[in-house]
Parts: sequence; C-alpha cells; structure tokens
Amino acid sequence: MNASSPSPAQNQASTTSLYGGVTNRRVTVRDLAAAKQRGEKWAMLTAYDALTAGVFDEAGIPVLLVGDSAGNCHLGYETTVPVTMDQMVMLSAAVVRGTKRAMVVADLPFGSYQESPAQAMHNAARLMKDAGVGAVKLEGGERSARSIELLVEAGVPVMAHIGLTPQSVHALGGYPVQGRGDEAAHQMLRDAKAVQQAGAFAVVLEAVPAELAAQVTEQLAIPTVGIGGGADTDAQVLVWTDMAGMTAGRVPKFVKQYANLRAVLGDAARDFAEEVRTGTFPAEQHTFH
Ligand code: KIV
Repeated sequence: MNASSPSPAQNQASTTSLYGGVTNRRVTVRDLAAAKQRGEKWAMLTAYDALTAGVFDEAGIPVLLVGDSAGNCHLGYETTVPVTMDQMVMLSAAVVRGTKRAMVVADLPFGSYQESPAQAMHNAARLMKDAGVGAVKLEGGERSARSIELLVEAGVPVMAHIGLTPQSVHALGGYPVQGRGDEAAHQMLRDAKAVQQAGAFAVVLEAVPAELAAQVTEQLAIPTVGIGGGADTDAQVLVWTDMAGMTAGRVPKFVKQYANLRAVLGDAARDFAEEVRTGTFPAEQHTFH
C-alpha cells in the first residue's frame, strides 16, 4: 500500500456519516471534505484536558479543538494573548491521549507564527511531533496565506480562522462583530478565498453576520465552521465551558448552554463540605476495617 492508495478503512469511512461511521481510526481531512460534498453538518467543541476530551470523543464529536481560548477558559487569563507554545503542547498532548476517534486540532498561539512562515512551521511541527495533533489552526486571512501555504506543502493540515480573531483583541478594541458593511464583507470574501487557495482544509468564521457567512460558505469548496456565524455554515464550534454552562457570568449572544455544569459542580462541592462538617461522610460503606 502506498500514499496514493488509502486503506479500506479510509475508503469506507470517508463515504459514511461523521456520526458513528468512523470507529477504527481518527477522523481525517478527507472525511470532512466528504461531509461537505454530502451536505452533512458537523460539530466541533474545544477541549483542554484528557478527561473532558474523552467524554466528547465518546459522544461522537468528530473534531476537537485545543483552542487558545484555554487562556480565558482554563488557565485564568483575561484573553488568549498570554498563552504559550509550551502550554499548548501540554494541553494538546492531554487531549490526544484522552481520545481515540476525534481529529484533534490545536491552535498556534499569539506570537508563535506571525513572524514568518518558517516560525509557523517550527511551531506546527512541535504540536504534531510533541503533542500528536492531526492539524493546527491559525488566525488571519490574506495576511496568513503564505504561512498556510508552507505548512500545507510540508504536510500539515491547516484550519484557518477569519472574522473576529481574538488574538487581535487589543488592536480590535474588544470583540466586535466583523464583516459589516460592503468593504468589510468584500475583505472577508477575499480572506476566505485566500486561505482556501493557500490549502487550508477548513475555515472558522467567528462573529460574522449570518448572511455573509452563508455567502462565504456557498463560495468555498472547503468546510466553513461557524461560531456566531448563523445557521448556514457547514459546521458549528462552541467553547465547551460556554456550551456546558461552566463559564461564570455573561456568555456571548451566539452561545447556547446545553447544561448548567457550574451549578451541578457547585452543589456537589457544597454537599460534600456539609457532610464532612456534620460527620455524615465518610459512612460505613466508604470505610476500611
Ligand atoms: O480558541 C478557540 O477556542 C477558538 C474557537 C473560538 C474557534 O478559536
């Protein structure tokens, strides 16, 4: 068997549903391309540790993103800007260890790829070799096209990220919706086409008017992954702590909370503390003799 003749498992899986069809190997870029052809929508969640990633893998989420949102959602920073390569390697390796089937995509954090395509390649290789991820993600459209091209030529699958790019929070003055107005919309289309042309296998569209996200999705051959991009993108991604109700305080308008884990965990911790205080825990069944 050589590189141009995929194994029977690869052939079979790329024609079946992303939900349950692929069980004996990880989801690949070919599966995602085939899903776009079929018009099958898919879900991506962030994950930052082995335990949570394992839960999402068992639930059949086909793509897990070790986002640099770990900065705000896992490591206690205010933004994604301080996140380092060492942190991304550690978190990504844990997510890979905790999963069997999902494609694991890791973010290149701020400052790890903007200097040059060579810097992007160096750090993408670290994520693939030291953490074992299947793909990397980086922010930027036309401005990142040269780096995407080099990575793809070198065999690194790249997910691009345009629209609201959180690593630019200080330049943007916050997290405003992007692509409003004719010029901004045209730039978004140029950015989307530039990353596709450079070889990206998918592109995240963050905080983009739904009509524009639909137009981008229609004009691209690669899958679009929306977060605050309306219902017409090929896939949807949410930050897991937002989706599961772990985040304290306000969440963005585009978030739907599917559980209230913060309340569940808080109640469990309060019940434990109360039982310790009153001497009801540990009981006889938790005790060795
Ligand atoms: O870092 C992240 O979690 C992301 C998603 C919001 C797409 O980039």
